Amino acid sequence: MSTTILIIGACGQIGTELTQQLREKYGKDSVIASDVRKGSAEFVASGPFEVVNALDFNQIQLIIEKYNISDVYLMAALLSATAEKNPAFAWDLNMNSLFHVLNLAKEGKVKKVFWPSSIAVFGPTTPKEHTPQYTVMEPSTVYGISKQSGERWCEYYHTIYGVDVRSIRYPGLISWSTLPGGGTTDYAVDIYHKALSDKKYECFLSEATGLPMMYMDDAIRATMEIMEADSKDVKIRSAYNLSAMSFTPKEIAASIKKHIPEFEITYAPDFRQKIADSWPASIDDNYARTDWNWKPEFDLDAMTKIMLENLSKQK
Ligand code: SER
Repeated sequence: MSTTILIIGACGQIGTELTQQLREKYGKDSVIASDVRKGSAEFVASGPFEVVNALDFNQIQLIIEKYNISDVYLMAALLSATAEKNPAFAWDLNMNSLFHVLNLAKEGKVKKVFWPSSIAVFGPTTPKEHTPQYTVMEPSTVYGISKQSGERWCEYYHTIYGVDVRSIRYPGLISWSTLPGGGTTDYAVDIYHKALSDKKYECFLSEATGLPMMYMDDAIRATMEIMEADSKDVKIRSAYNLSAMSFTPKEIAASIKKHIPEFEITYAPDFRQKIADSWPASIDDNYARTDWNWKPEFDLDAMTKIMLENLSKQK
């Protein structure tokens, strides 16, 4: 059977780049982008696009039938900072969209599901350095609670109903083409924009807050690799730890200074500091490396170079 893909939440930070990469691999007409609102004219013109509300089961089902979809990538979600401001909606969106897609897969209407989890599944009682795959998990954020619950349901649907669902615990993701929205790790994108435009940046996290991070190209490749892996090799059906680099605001600022020596960073921690403090500083992703051969390519300095180059061109 040929692969026909539906991406729900295609206009977001990950969705935009995932759509492009999947279209390069599977052909533009085999990858249906969808989001709750119409994307930019350029994005809509780049291939099939449908307006789909991730909370509307019938709408999702209709599109799956219309295009004979085999694989769904469910990227719609409220991220950590926004979720703290709107807990009820975050829970509704993050959980019920997942149930809709898992239930369609259970009914055999979809063959394979990708659903993103996050480092937010961990909490303040989790070991902070080289956080293992299996460890204490007591998330203290609305977003983390929804991702942890989602992981349990993914594993349940796989074990009980045989649903082929695959997931990764993304670290903070950094990209130049689309802005992130509402996350705690967003500073690591914003800082590059402000370094170029203002030569200074006020960070909402303190200088020594270490967090696991990843350049978007690595994240997209990991997503496509876990989806292409042989089903028997995807042994973990909750979500895999995934790691590339870890840095503090001070360290990313130092990396930027190598290109823009006059760049200055100041610190004014806000409510997001508490969220960041509850998350791991670094991740052990040994299972992903062993089970489906995961290997990151970008470190901090390589990423800084690409980010600054591409953002300068864009400006
Ligand atoms: N980048 C996300 C956030 O900060 C974590 O998954 O919310």
